[in-house]
Amino acid sequence: MMMRRLLLAGAVAAVMMATAAEGFISKKTWSAIRQANRGGPFVGLVVPNAYEMDPVLNSPSFSPSLTLPYLDVQGRRFRFGAIGGQNVVMVMTGLSMLNAGLTTQLLLSLFKVKGIVHWGIAGNADEGLQIGDVTIPEHWAHLSLWNWQRYGDGPENELPLEAAGDYTRDLGFLNFSDYTATGRSPNELNSIWYQPEEIFPVSGVPEQRQHAFWVPVSKHYFALAEKLEELELPACVNGTTTCLPRAPKVTRVSKGCSANVFLDNAAYRQFLRRKFGCTPVEMESAAVALVAHQQGVPFLTIRSLSDLAGGGSDLGNEAAKFLAIAARNAVDVMLQFVPLLAGVGAVDM
Ligand SMILES: *[C@@H]1O[C@H](CO)[C@@H](O)[C@H](O)[C@H]1NC(C)=O
Ligand SMILES: *[C@@H]1O[C@H](CO)[C@@H](O)[C@H](O)[C@H]1NC(C)=O
Repeated sequence: MMMRRLLLAGAVAAVMMATAAEGFISKKTWSAIRQANRGGPFVGLVVPNAYEMDPVLNSPSFSPSLTLPYLDVQGRRFRFGAIGGQNVVMVMTGLSMLNAGLTTQLLLSLFKVKGIVHWGIAGNADEGLQIGDVTIPEHWAHLSLWNWQRYGDGPENELPLEAAGDYTRDLGFLNFSDYTATGRSPNELNSIWYQPEEIFPVSGVPEQRQHAFWVPVSKHYFALAEKLEELELPACVNGTTTCLPRAPKVTRVSKGCSANVFLDNAAYRQFLRRKFGCTPVEMESAAVALVAHQQGVPFLTIRSLSDLAGGGSDLGNEAAKFLAIAARNAVDVMLQFVPLLAGVGAVDM
């Protein structure tokens, strides 16, 4: 019986080695990847959703590669082409942090990428900005890693596993008691405490964790983006029928915030603005930033604002009309930015 099991285990291992010698990527795909990389180094373009990618595919500024327009790997499509003389590889991640993180890692593991540009639309947490404005944050944080405190404990109580260094009270909390519509009163949901990510940068020692909360974008890319603040963006859709109160602007801001949360709540939006200084709030950039940061690859995000997250602006009921403007503005600004990377190498963080 024992012998049979061993033989069987040996046979299974042999079959696995024969079929999985290249991991889950076939020999044929590896060879296509090697061929594609001859066109590199690329600017890696990472985009969440089809409505933020399609305007690029339809733009005359994007020339698809004639020899290898795309390569499908593990459920993702990597599209090759050029924008303003820069060779690019573009990939759509799908919604939220897990998709954004794993797709970015796949991009960097497979292709010769000198830097990453990410774009899309975002909720707005800054009441001073308007639908259609395009923001370029200098730092990103992931705001959905929490330690949820038990009822009865308060700011003076240590969190579980805090002593071990797994969690911290340094970044602060949201107390549900502060958000009772009828006025403050104790709430059994108590408080959530915001946590930094555990990271394992390639420059560090494997399995020795570091922590990261505000992840900086590339200093060099951020400096280059100053030029974009002069861009003039159209104020109207459909000629002059539907216009914003002023033409949208491109603006570099301090903080962008991501979470596995579609934010449509004014109280939480105002909390995020007050506590963390967020301007765009969305669901992917911090994941892309955390991967790029750990791999030592320069990175920048361009996010146009849809309506105030949770409502409250005069334009609120027209937001749907302007969504197309917002998506197009993010794409237009990205298309202007990528050509600025001519002569900028992978080490220019
Ligand atoms: C949250 O509010 C409850 C009820 O008022 C209070 O007991 C607790 O100390 C507060 N927690 C924090 C972290 O401030
Ligand atoms: C623009 O006009 C077209 C055709 O008249 C219409 O289908 C579309 O909904 C309009 N778009 C906006 C944003 O108003």
